[in-house]
Amino acid sequence: MIEEYVNKIINGNCVDVMKLFPDNSINLVVTSPPYDNLRTYKGYTFPFDDIVTELYRIIKEGGIVVWVVSDATINGSETCTSFKQALTFVEKGFRLHDTMIFQKTNPVPQIYRKRYTNVFEYMFVFSKGAVATHNPIKVPCLHAGLELKGTTYKNYSKGEQSRTKLANPVKAEKLKGNIWEYVVGKKAVDQEAKKHPAPFPYELALDHIKSWTNEGDIVLDPMCGSGTTCIAAMDLKRNYIGIDISEEYCKLSEDRINIHKDVELSLFD
Ligand SMILES: C[S@@+](CC[C@H](N)C(=O)[O-])C[C@H]1O[C@@H](n2cnc3c(N)ncnc32)[C@H](O)[C@@H]1O
Repeated sequence: MIEEYVNKIINGNCVDVMKLFPDNSINLVVTSPPYDNLRTYKGYTFPFDDIVTELYRIIKEGGIVVWVVSDATINGSETCTSFKQALTFVEKGFRLHDTMIFQKTNPVPQIYRKRYTNVFEYMFVFSKGAVATHNPIKVPCLHAGLELKGTTYKNYSKGEQSRTKLANPVKAEKLKGNIWEYVVGKKAVDQEAKKHPAPFPYELALDHIKSWTNEGDIVLDPMCGSGTTCIAAMDLKRNYIGIDISEEYCKLSEDRINIHKDVELSLFD
């Protein structure tokens, strides 16, 4: 029964822990692996293939895995680990539903090496079959209310462009794009995570959990680090499961969860 693992932080290798979970029991995974430490992590081999196999088994039909990842640059070349991992997910049965970008408003300055400053990471969104839940995030339209005489509709499949349709006044809101921008490590809620070397922003986890789940669903982070996914899930009245191989990081996650318990979500804005 998945219920016995819910709303807990579990210390262990995520493959071993996930093996205890029943098939088709998790609605959403939001996670990020140790980047480009595929061979060793503190002397421990990172079991990427086994992680994907287990994720596919435990995710419900229509469920989602959000995999936040970036490449190291070694001997002048990016490693392509992100792409290789994405292809493995697809080989093991997932659909690549969307390749999203996490853009940093405050990227770490780099030593100039004849390339532009790296400002983003991938957020690969994989689904097991057709997506079950999408609560789309909307953003205001820049020209809301503007009356247009006509507008150009491009039919990409036919390669045609026509001006036949009359547009209504521009709507107040439109669907958010798939490049999401966040400040890293500056918001009050992200200060608690600083004892971990690589947390992602709380709001990144929050936006994915809002998008792909409903209240009461189960959200897993199999490499939860400082527990960012778990606290965002808890704040949104979802159930969480966090797993980390490091006892120290499990304790950090539990401490953050305790800070968030009984505190109004608005206080973390
Ligand atoms: C990039 S960090 C995740 C950070 C997290 N998203 C956050 O916001 O704090 C990757 C984490 O994976 C954990 N880890 C590495 N191998 C693991 C494994 N086999 N099972 C469980 N956790 C693992 C590491 O201890 C580390 O905390």
